Amino acid sequence: MADGLLNNKVALVTGGASGIGFATARQFADEGAQLIIADKNSEKLIKAKNWFIEHNYSILAIECDVCDSSQVASLMANIQSTYGHLDILVNNVGDFLGRIKPFVSMTDDDIDDLFTVNLRQLMICTRDAIPLLMQASQQASVICISSIEGYRGMPNIAPYGAYKLGIEGFVKSIALELGPDNIRINAIAPETTETDQVQPKKWISEANYPRVKEWIPLGRFGQPDDIAGSALFLASRLSQWITGTVIHCDGGALAAAGWYRTPEGSWTNTPVITESGITGLINED
Ligand SMILES: NC(=O)c1ccc[n+]([C@@H]2O[C@H](COP(=O)([O-])OP(=O)(O)OC[C@H]3O[C@@H](n4cnc5c(N)ncnc54)[C@H](O)[C@@H]3O)[C@@H](O)[C@H]2O)c1
Repeated sequence: MADGLLNNKVALVTGGASGIGFATARQFADEGAQLIIADKNSEKLIKAKNWFIEHNYSILAIECDVCDSSQVASLMANIQSTYGHLDILVNNVGDFLGRIKPFVSMTDDDIDDLFTVNLRQLMICTRDAIPLLMQASQQASVICISSIEGYRGMPNIAPYGAYKLGIEGFVKSIALELGPDNIRINAIAPETTETDQVQPKKWISEANYPRVKEWIPLGRFGQPDDIAGSALFLASRLSQWITGTVIHCDGGALAAAGWYRTPEGSWTNTPVITESGITGLINED
């Protein structure tokens, strides 16, 4: 590809075998990147790898559980021996792990497991990628996938929101540490985006589904490609003077805060839908 935004850039996307990660990897490949996807789900990984091969894209698909530090170390060693450097790291892995329950019922394991998959592994991946990012011949970029749930209260899954907000604190500090080495780091905080992990069609009845326009100003849930577009921007030279910040890729949901459109089309800050959405999944064991 002659004029791709990411021509020949070596990019690693964690959790790149499905959802937002896969869409990001696809958009990066379309722009000329040499892709590495690391995912713990071997079935999804093979499917994704085949997609890249069928479309004649460069792909290195590595089975890796990023919550396991030794597997992350091996992943980075593999990238070192294959490419000798890294231009772009997308810390996409994150999961609410289905642990939806009042905080008083959260076990130590719930709190630890949510920490490991949403914040700890992201720090380990970033730390272990830094020596490779420092070998990039031009500016390098790290992108971390946060969540809108870090920027508004969400009942029954407090640790997830806390760790997702923690990503911003991490990003700010690391932006200072790595700026002098010409490495940028930013985050993206998506609103509900239709993926395997987040399936609003299962949580909201068909009758109420179109009423999404009443709480998301741009009138729909996100698609993985919406988030991937922001990742592409943050990965490319188009954002070359942006570091230490967060893009709220949310259809305007955060701006709306507690405001909702009424069926008549005006706005109210009193609830208009009684279904409980994701919080209807409460599982107290
Ligand atoms: N979908 C949403 O509505 C939404 C909203 C806000 C934030 N996010 C965040 O976006 C990111 C991607 O979410 P998604 O909805 O695309 O999820 P997804 O479950 O559809 O895809 C996640 C991918 O990561 C892989 N994965 C999970 N744990 C892993 C691990 N420990 N090691 C390696 N791979 C692992 C999975 O196998 C899967 O392929 C997450 O950080 C999530 O918290 C999603």
